[in-house]
Amino acid sequence: MTAVIHASNLTKVFGNSTAVDHISFDVRQGEIFGFLGPNGAGKTTTTRMLTGVIPLDAGTATILGHDIHSEPVLAKQGFGVVPETSNAYTDLTAWQNLMLMGELYGLERTRAEHRSSELLGMVGLLERKDQKVQEYSKGMKQRLILAMALIHEPELLFLDEPTSGLDVQSTQMILSLLRDLNRQGTTIFLTTHNMEEANRLCHRVGIIRGGKMVAIDAPEKLKTAIDRVHKIEVSFDREVSGDALAGLTGVTGANRTGDKWQITTQNKDATIRSLVTFGQQNGAAIVTLNTLAPSLDEAFLRLTQEDKP
Ligand SMILES: Nc1ncnc2c1ncn2[C@@H]1O[C@H](COP(=O)(O)OP(=O)(O)OP(=O)(O)O)[C@@H](O)[C@H]1O
Ligand SMILES: [Mg+2]
Repeated sequence: MTAVIHASNLTKVFGNSTAVDHISFDVRQGEIFGFLGPNGAGKTTTTRMLTGVIPLDAGTATILGHDIHSEPVLAKQGFGVVPETSNAYTDLTAWQNLMLMGELYGLERTRAEHRSSELLGMVGLLERKDQKVQEYSKGMKQRLILAMALIHEPELLFLDEPTSGLDVQSTQMILSLLRDLNRQGTTIFLTTHNMEEANRLCHRVGIIRGGKMVAIDAPEKLKTAIDRVHKIEVSFDREVSGDALAGLTGVTGANRTGDKWQITTQNKDATIRSLVTFGQQNGAAIVTLNTLAPSLDEAFLRLTQEDKP
């Protein structure tokens, strides 16, 4: 598969701190790549280097086959950007912003007009196109910025936390637009710290921590990769002793939550077998028994905690 983004040893140093520390990764054609990390991890800095806003201090990157250092204009023609902070002029209307963007990318006027109407329709802003952006709500502004990023029909779209601070409706609208774009072939590089979003949307995620890439994989695989501790949730039809549960094979802890017991174990299979035997021996019937998969949130927390790589 072709790499749409190929980053090798990407590095950025601010003063005496290394914000991005020799990170390497590929983003494949047609995928939604989630770029996850806690605040200050280096997500925006990476995005800004890749999109040519700030220079690299070391390393190389190619976008759609063009080196971002030696062929920045060719690289930029192929991608659109939804930056972390709005790039729309608030004293202009949505329409004027789109026209300006069209000019920037060298689109013919009629082409820009046609494309702008189409995009405004897509993001549900056609009727508000002649209103100044300063009168827009946050969600409307973000949808406009997405439209602006798409004016030149880029093959690749960078988004830096596009749904941050938006309500559920605006978030859903943006996510569903991203899914549609991806289905039509657009490759997406999505920066977020929202695990749920990444889990639902992304084919693969890369996790950055303290400027270093700590994991790159499919969300499901990341979950199982950290699945060293398993959880089992069980309830019985009568009172049982927590101490007795804690003593069963493989069990490292038993905590009560409501009418259920949450059991952590190092050996799921052996613990389930001994729970069944325990029930039989104590005349307690099992009412519910669930094994709990770790969430992407848990994977993320583990991978981004300094002491637990
Ligand atoms: N222009 C700059 N000058 C100095 N330091 C900077 C600059 N930009 C970013 N940094 C530092 O680089 C590190 C990474 O910042 P960056 O904005 O890339 O993080 P982030 O992962 O995008 O975080 P957030 O989730 O808060 O957006 C931080 O320690 C930040 O303070
Ligand atoms: Mg950021």
